[in-house]
Amino acid sequence: MSTQMNGEKGPLGFEVTPDGVAVLTYDLPGETMNTLRPEFTAAFEKAFAEVEQNPDIRAAVLASGKKDFIVGADINMLSSLKSEDDARAMLEKGHDMLLRLAASKKPVVAAVAGQALGGGWEVSLACHGRVASEDAVFSFPEVQLGLLPGANGLQRLADIAGLQVALDHGLTGKKMRAKKAKKIGVVDDVVARPILLETAVAHALKLSKGKGARKAKEKLQARLTKIALEENAIGRKVLFSQARKAFRKKTHGHYPAPEAIVDVLEKHAEEGMAASCKLERELFGRLLHTDVSANLRSIFFATTALKKDPGVDGDVEPRKVEKIAMLGAGLMGAGITYVSIDKGYQVRLKDRDAEGIGRGLKYVHDIVDGRVKKRHIGKGDRIEILSRMSSTTDYSGMANVQLVIEAVFEDLGLKHRILKEVEDNFGEDVIFASNTSSIPIGRIAEAAKRPENVVGMHYFSPVHKMPLLEVIRTEKTRDEVVATAVAVGKRQGKTVIVVNDGVGFYTSRILGPYMNEAAYILTEGAAVEFIDDAMVSWGWPVGPMALIDEVGIDVAAHVGPVMLEAFGERLTPPPTITRLVDDGRKGRKNERGFYRYGSRKKKKKGKEVDETVYAALGLDVPDPKAPPAVSRDEIRERCNLQFINEALHCWGDGILRSARDGDIGAIFGLGFPPFRGGPFRYLDAVGADEVLAKLETYQGRFGARFTPAPALVEHVKRGGRFHG
Ligand SMILES: NC(=O)c1ccc[n+]([C@@H]2O[C@H](COP(=O)([O-])OP(=O)(O)OC[C@H]3O[C@@H](n4cnc5c(N)ncnc54)[C@H](O)[C@@H]3O)[C@@H](O)[C@H]2O)c1
Repeated sequence: MSTQMNGEKGPLGFEVTPDGVAVLTYDLPGETMNTLRPEFTAAFEKAFAEVEQNPDIRAAVLASGKKDFIVGADINMLSSLKSEDDARAMLEKGHDMLLRLAASKKPVVAAVAGQALGGGWEVSLACHGRVASEDAVFSFPEVQLGLLPGANGLQRLADIAGLQVALDHGLTGKKMRAKKAKKIGVVDDVVARPILLETAVAHALKLSKGKGARKAKEKLQARLTKIALEENAIGRKVLFSQARKAFRKKTHGHYPAPEAIVDVLEKHAEEGMAASCKLERELFGRLLHTDVSANLRSIFFATTALKKDPGVDGDVEPRKVEKIAMLGAGLMGAGITYVSIDKGYQVRLKDRDAEGIGRGLKYVHDIVDGRVKKRHIGKGDRIEILSRMSSTTDYSGMANVQLVIEAVFEDLGLKHRILKEVEDNFGEDVIFASNTSSIPIGRIAEAAKRPENVVGMHYFSPVHKMPLLEVIRTEKTRDEVVATAVAVGKRQGKTVIVVNDGVGFYTSRILGPYMNEAAYILTEGAAVEFIDDAMVSWGWPVGPMALIDEVGIDVAAHVGPVMLEAFGERLTPPPTITRLVDDGRKGRKNERGFYRYGSRKKKKKGKEVDETVYAALGLDVPDPKAPPAVSRDEIRERCNLQFINEALHCWGDGILRSARDGDIGAIFGLGFPPFRGGPFRYLDAVGADEVLAKLETYQGRFGARFTPAPALVEHVKRGGRFHG
C-alpha cells in the first residue's frame, strides 16, 4: 500500500492511502502495550479533525502498532485521579470524542489484532466497522477492578448484539473471541493478521461509498438472536432483575460494580445514550474511589509486579528448561503436566504402573478435549499440545530433562526414595521440585546429595484452574534454582510467590488455624451450614466446613498434629474432632463428610448437611429455631483473626518476602476475599491496634489459641502500615 506521510511524530501515526483512507496507527512510544491515556485522546482528536476537514480523505482506519490493539485504560493513570469529579471530567472528554467519532459522516473502521480490552474494545465499538485478526479477543475486565467500562462500550455492545450479551460481558469480564464476535455481528470480518490492515482499509473505503454495511438480512438474524425479552419494557425488567439476582447471590452485596453495570444498561434501554452516559460518568467516579476498587486494583498491580519479579534478589539467570519429568500421574501430576504441555514444555510423565498412567493421560486428554469442545483451541492445536506429552513407568526417555517435579503420595519415605532415584538416574544439574503440600522441603532435601537443587513447587488443585504457584526455598536452595522454578511457573501461566521453607509454608500454614477455629466453633454447638454461611457471606468462596470436606478430613487430621508439633499449643485441635476419622469420614472423596454427596444426597438444590456428623462428634443436632450457639459475627471474627494472626506469625518468622506476596498467596491460593485486598491490606484497613485488641479479648476467653503474633505486637508498637 503506498502511503503519504501527512502528520507529525507522536503516539498516533497518520498516513493516507492513495484512495483517501487515513490510517491512524496507535503506537505508544516506549511501551509494549497500547493503553488509553490522555495523550491518545489528544492525538486522536487532532487526527480525527484532519479526517473530517480534509476533503481528500474519505474514510479512516484505526490500527495498532503493537501486537495487541489497545489493552484498556492505564490503571496507574486512573489511580492518580484524585477526586470523583476528576474522574468524571476525564470520562466526559472521552465520551465527547467517541460520540463525535460515532456520529462522523466519514466512516472509521477499527483494525483489531490481538487483545482489545476495556477501553480498547469500547473505542472499536464506537467505530463504524470492525475487522479483526483471527486471534483477536475482546473483553471488559473493568468489573474485576471494581469498575465499569467507562467509554460507552456497554451501551454500544447492547445496541449491536443485545442487552444479554452486554450484561454477560460487562458482569463477568469474559472473553469474546473473533469467531464469535463475527457470528453475532460485533465484527464485520475476521482475517489473518498479515492482511488485516488492507482488509480494514478496503472495508472503510466500501463504507464510504455506502456499501459494505451489514446487510439487512444479517441484521435481522442478529436481532432474532436477541430474545423477545429485550423488546418490551416488562421483558427488560425481568432481564435486569434476573441479572441482579444472579450476581447478588455470588457477591453478597460486597461488589458495587456489577450493580452499576446493570444500572447503566437499564438506563440505556429505557432512556437512551445521553442519559446512560451521564449515569456512567457519575457511577464511574464513585466506583473509582471505593475501597473495593482500590483493593482490586492493588491485586492487579501486585500480579503485574510479580510477573516481572524473578523471585530472588539480584540478577540471577534462570536455567533453560524445555523438558520436564513429572513423577506421579495423579490429580496433581496430571494437572501440572497439562499446564506444562499447554505452554510448550515437553513432559515425560511417570507413574508406578499402567493404571496410574492411564488415569493421568485421561485427565489431561479430558481437559484438552474440553477446550476443543468449547472452541478455545482447534483440533490441530489439540494434536500439537498432546504430542508434547509422553508416558512411562520407569526412568526411560528422561536423559535430557532439566527439571523433575514429583507429585507422588504424601509420604516422606517415598519422597526420599524418589529423590535418591532421581539423583542416581539424572545429571548433576537436574532440579528436583516437590509438590508436597505439607512436608517441609528441608526434610525432603535431607536425603539429597545435592540439596542446592531441591526446591518446592506447591501447586493448587485443580492445577489448570488455580492461579497460584507457591515456590518454596530452603536455606540451601540455590538462587538460580529458585529463579528457574519461578520462570517455569510463570510460563505455565501462574502467579508465583516465593516463600521460605517451614511447616505448611505460607498458604497451608495460615489455613490451618482458620480451619481449626471453625472446628472449635462446631464443637461449641454451631450448625455446619451456619458456620459456612457466615464465612461465605463475608466473602470467602466456600465455608471452612465445606473446605475441610474438599481437602479431606483425613488429610486435615494428618496435617493437624504436624502443625501442633511445629507451632505448639495455639494449634491444638478440639479433642473430639478425631472422632470423625474414626467414623470413616474422609470428606468428599469417600462421600462421607460434613455434607452429603453422591447417592447419599437427596434430590435437593444446593448443599445438604449430613446430620449424622453431629452424633459422630457427640453433639446434638442444632435446633434451627434456637438462637445460634455462636453468633455470625463471632464466627467471622474468630476464624478471620486466626488467619490474619498466622499470616503475621509467618511475617515474623521470615517466611514471606513481602506483604504483597502474603496478600496474593491468600487471595489466589486460598480464596481470601479479593475485595478486601488480602490479610495484610485488611489489617491496614481495620487497624493493627484494633486487631491486636480483639485477639487479646479472645485470648482472655480461649487462652493460647489467640495469643497475638509477636510480629503484630511489634508492628503496633512501631506504628505504620504494611502497605504505604
Ligand atoms: N490434592 C491436592 O489438592 C494437593 C494440592 C497440593 C499438593 N498436593 C500434593 O501433591 C502430591 C500428590 O497428590 P495427589 O492429590 O496428586 O495424589 P494422588 O494420589 O492423586 O496421586 C499420586 C500418584 O503418585 C503415584 N505414585 C506413587 N508412587 C509412585 C512412584 N514411586 N513413582 C511414580 N508415581 C508414583 C500414584 O500411583 C498416584 O498416581 C502429594 O504430595 C500431595 O500432598 C496435593
